[in-house]
Amino acid sequence: MKFRYAVKNVQADKLYELAKESTGLIVEIGSCVGKSTIAMALGSLAGGKFPVYAIDPWKNPLHEKEFIDNIHSAKVSHLVRMVKAFSMGAWQMYQNGTIPTFEEGFSLLFIDGAHAYKSVKEDLQWVSLVKKGGMIAFHDYKEKLCPGVAKAIDEYLSSDKVEMTIVDIVDTLLVCRKT
Ligand SMILES: C[S@@+](CC[C@H](N)C(=O)[O-])C[C@H]1O[C@@H](n2cnc3c(N)ncnc32)[C@H](O)[C@@H]1O
Repeated sequence: MKFRYAVKNVQADKLYELAKESTGLIVEIGSCVGKSTIAMALGSLAGGKFPVYAIDPWKNPLHEKEFIDNIHSAKVSHLVRMVKAFSMGAWQMYQNGTIPTFEEGFSLLFIDGAHAYKSVKEDLQWVSLVKKGGMIAFHDYKEKLCPGVAKAIDEYLSSDKVEMTIVDIVDTLLVCRKT
């Protein structure tokens, strides 16, 4: 399997552990060719076997094909649900009932989609659907090449409406718990 634009192995290991401990649905924003999706799907397989919703527009058809091939090779196709949309498009699908299973809330949310400040702020909307005690992980926190990620998260963490606390940082993978 070839993985590009992906989490580091140590971060994939952490996502595996979080998914293994997950007690409900897992949602990923930004899947690309599937390294992080597979890490979480394998973790889920070793744990509660909850589905992993992979949200990505897959604008590059080669990436979409690679994602499908990689998921298949890893033998986790049965657990992975592809949602081919930008995160805000998927949010609309949730709001108009196209993805009704989201109603029950998630136990693990991993955010690694668009890395601009405005996009991360939009993606933070999804935190409201994580169940109390559930986990939220962000990739590229404090990564020099995408300062908007940390700016949006830090602003959120210091705001009145904060709904999560930091529990771990693995390289640039920030792990929080929903409060
Ligand atoms: C860095 S890659 C994800 C890598 C993947 N998480 C991994 O570690 O294997 C970012 C992905 O986010 C997707 N993306 C960009 N904007 C997005 C958005 N608004 N919503 C969801 N996905 C988005 C891109 O298509 C791309 O595949």
